[in-house]
Amino acid sequence: MNERLEDIASAMVAAGKGILAADESTSTIKKRFDNINLVSTEESRRDYRELLFSAKDAMTNYISGVILYDETLRQKAKDGTPLAQMIKAAGAVPGIKVDKGAVDLPGFPGEKITEGLDGLAARLKEYHDLGARFAKWRAVIDMADGLPTWGAVKANSQALARYAALCQQAGIVPIVEPEVLMDGPVATHDAARCHEVTHWVLKTVFDDLYDARVNLEGIVLKPNMVVAGKNCKTQASPEEVAERTLKVLKATVPGAVPGIAFLSGGQSDELATHHLSLMNMQALPWKLTFSYGRALQAACLKAWGGKAENLAAGQRAFTHRARMNGLACLGKYTPAHEKAA
Ligand code: 13P
Repeated sequence: MNERLEDIASAMVAAGKGILAADESTSTIKKRFDNINLVSTEESRRDYRELLFSAKDAMTNYISGVILYDETLRQKAKDGTPLAQMIKAAGAVPGIKVDKGAVDLPGFPGEKITEGLDGLAARLKEYHDLGARFAKWRAVIDMADGLPTWGAVKANSQALARYAALCQQAGIVPIVEPEVLMDGPVATHDAARCHEVTHWVLKTVFDDLYDARVNLEGIVLKPNMVVAGKNCKTQASPEEVAERTLKVLKATVPGAVPGIAFLSGGQSDELATHHLSLMNMQALPWKLTFSYGRALQAACLKAWGGKAENLAAGQRAFTHRARMNGLACLGKYTPAHEKAA
């Protein structure tokens, strides 16, 4: 089979569809399950992911790809079908989180570096054999007084570039995710400061991707939107978020990149959808879509509550958010759509 990276990347950003980030690590999904008083076991994690991937309307019409965690890529549904196979059968691409998380960066108090490069080539080969055709690596950039530093921005950017090159060598499309946090430890910055830092980070990342000889037509960028910090008194309007985000992306992301899939980062479900739709109301050099975790799953988790009898309610909640975001990819969503549904 000779699959081109460019074709996989295009499928991931197909019109009206986006990516479901269901790659919570075991410790992160435990936090989500704690909120609904559900014990996190291999089986409950499997049941939850199976609920998502068997939501047929959502998966076939609005989801282009799913990011999985290592455990999930190896799990089977109750009837024995591998979960990755269910995703493929729905017409979506299975993907895999390959970073090993962010740890303190020595010498840079308050800043992190993402680990996972050692041995990555061998892991990517195995993931490809297991059916994954794209991967994700998340770098986190925190903003506080005097942060981020150039040292931390550069170290994270170079790691992203090395990861991306390794993925492409393995026939896997890298999702390149430099996340400027809106909910870091301080998070009192305004949108103007987020604008400045996001510009700096993306400019650095594309310089490093070039230096690492990464084929830009075979990547998907996963950035934050330009928003004020969670604890900032002055929040930007949806129009300001859309305008600032597009300004930064146009200044830093070459048109060779097929698509940009935003993270939700702690935005409310509806705002994450509204912002995306506003940006898609104009002609752009790349596809703009979603790669949401929390903003696609929060309502579903709540409706399901870990109870078998609520499975259909959970799927309805997930399908609703997927459909709203699918509309947003086409610039056709307005908050009034929430009520109509
Ligand atoms: P959120 O949309 O919840 O930020 O998660 C997306 C993701 O994959 C973060 O790495």
